[in-house]
Amino acid sequence: MSLGDITFHTRKWVRPEDLNANGTLFGGSLLRWIDEEAAIYAIVQLGNGRAVTKYMSEINFVSSARQGDLVEMGLTATHFGRTSLTMRAEVRNMFTRESILTIEKIVFVNLGDDGKPAPHGYDSITYSRDRVPTQHLGHFEPED
Ligand SMILES: CC(C)(COP(=O)(O)OP(=O)(O)OC[C@H]1O[C@@H](n2cnc3c(N)ncnc32)[C@H](O)[C@@H]1OP(=O)(O)O)[C@@H](O)C(=O)NCCC(=O)NCCS
Repeated sequence: MSLGDITFHTRKWVRPEDLNANGTLFGGSLLRWIDEEAAIYAIVQLGNGRAVTKYMSEINFVSSARQGDLVEMGLTATHFGRTSLTMRAEVRNMFTRESILTIEKIVFVNLGDDGKPAPHGYDSITYSRDRVPTQHLGHFEPED
């Protein structure tokens, strides 16, 4: 798999509280879901729990979803910068695969302990959980 192939992870069930006045999926709910998904993706890729949303390009609400629909969210890293990570996102219907939303660029910035941008040192996607943020280790002692 190369930079650019979207991997779909989280699935969501469209519930009554996620609807807009038109009875379809509310854009604000979608954005909350995708921002959280992107944050988790960035934490896994950068091995740092202190990664924050810096920039989102235009958001294309391609089609709507209705109450009871199952949707899935996908992301892929498109560019590893010095302190930033750029991702592309798509949300689609789980069964028909019809696209619901696309965002060409979501940029997260890796922060140091001082809250300032810090180099992350990575230039490629990991598909395992090998970049473990120290604050997420808890009491777990990794084996040698
Ligand atoms: C994140 C933050 C610390 C970055 O500060 P900054 O002064 O913009 O930092 P820099 O200019 O050093 O840029 C840091 C990185 O972001 C990238 N960047 C900055 N502005 C960007 C923009 N508009 N679009 C894309 N990338 C951008 C830079 O290219 C750089 O990446 P690189 O190191 O990989 O080349 C600061 O903007 C901030 O605190 N923003 C609020 C973040 C937040 O609270 N988000 C939650 C959502 S509201």
